[in-house]
Amino acid sequence: MSEQEMQLEVSFLKKKISELQQEIEKLKSATTEEEYFRKKSAETLAYREQQLRETKKRHFDTVSLWGLYGIKDMKQFKSVSLPIFSTATGAPYESLVDAALHLSYEVINDPNKIYSRIDNTTIDHLAMKIAALEGKTIPELTQGLCVSSGMAAVFMSTMPFLEVGDEFVSSNRVYGGTQQLFDVTYPKMGWKARWVTSPWDIDAWNEQITSKTKFLYVESPSNPTLFVADLPELAKLAHDHNVPLIVDSTLASPALLRPLEHGADIVVHSITKVMGSSGRAIGGAIVAKEHIVTNVPDLADNFAVKVKGGHFRNLGPCLHPPSAAAIWDNLNSLQIRVKALCERALKIAQFLEQHEKITHVNYPGLPSHPQHEIAKKLMKFEDGTNGYGYLMSFNLKGDINTAKRFSLLFNFGVQVTDLGRDYTTWIGNHN
Ligand SMILES: Cc1ncc(COP(=O)(O)O)c(C=O)c1O
Repeated sequence: MSEQEMQLEVSFLKKKISELQQEIEKLKSATTEEEYFRKKSAETLAYREQQLRETKKRHFDTVSLWGLYGIKDMKQFKSVSLPIFSTATGAPYESLVDAALHLSYEVINDPNKIYSRIDNTTIDHLAMKIAALEGKTIPELTQGLCVSSGMAAVFMSTMPFLEVGDEFVSSNRVYGGTQQLFDVTYPKMGWKARWVTSPWDIDAWNEQITSKTKFLYVESPSNPTLFVADLPELAKLAHDHNVPLIVDSTLASPALLRPLEHGADIVVHSITKVMGSSGRAIGGAIVAKEHIVTNVPDLADNFAVKVKGGHFRNLGPCLHPPSAAAIWDNLNSLQIRVKALCERALKIAQFLEQHEKITHVNYPGLPSHPQHEIAKKLMKFEDGTNGYGYLMSFNLKGDINTAKRFSLLFNFGVQVTDLGRDYTTWIGNHN
């Protein structure tokens, strides 16, 4: 064995001894069992925070591949792939004190020790990966929460702010499910949406803000109208009124648009779509900055963590762990896929715009799109190149019979209520 090899072996052994010594020191320095568990928890939190800070220096593709799932986790779980913890509960508590601390959410040594409706290692890793991707380009730390669907994410990101009689202001260019939630379900709880019918006009937003406003809500790009919001302007307006800006950026994904970078406080996703491109799962995600602007003081710090330990726990819209693992895997290639989808979508949009049987193509990548310049400013991949998303709409020249004929003759892709897949999906409508 050479001198150099010898040194390497010695340093390996020293590292192992040092790890064991640290554990012994922790045990020795704790005077009570509770102190020991709290110290361990603080250490786990600090480790995840340190990992999260490191993701800000990494490439987007590296973060989308691993998230915060590191060598330490691989060794603990004896698996390079993220394991699927699909059981209702995981590890037993070590003692009464350990149980009490976990159940009061004061320590987080092992998410699997808490009942799976509330916390689960597989789902936690998905939430941490998405939080890292959304927060990659900002100095602040981010926190994520994964839920059972995109709709659950819209609900869980908004309801914590609202008391009976409260209001919020929303762009009227939102996905139909969100419109129904805000217009049909929320009034039953005593919550009122004030709709902005020209969301490109910042004064129109301002006019809807009252002393009862708890947040501004926007979908960008919007489904299916492809409205693109001027997020820095909207965030400024929201913050001038001491309320948060909540953005549903499902149609962009963090590969293309990171609303927190442009001033938003909370991002919402249906991870059913391009983030879970295989289409094997329904899911939703919320990512919030550690500190948000809000006139509800209790929610100003650690919004996502508080929702998880509070309303999310109480309501129970948890994600299915195998779904979390499927989406975690799908995220591996997010940027590469979104780039390819954007390039192809732009070519198709340009082709359709020239077609004599089409009256209008609605795609933010076309200079004819009313918010093309805003999209150009905000929708960027890591290398600074633009992408304009994977959804477009177009109008056929003619009447309903033209549309019917088109749907029978068009033999490309699949006609479904779905989007963000690796294959083309489409759906027709007439009004
Ligand atoms: C922009 C947007 N937000 C939210 C949702 C709801 O997501 P999910 O179907 O995962 O509940 C959708 C669904 O199409 C959507 O397009």
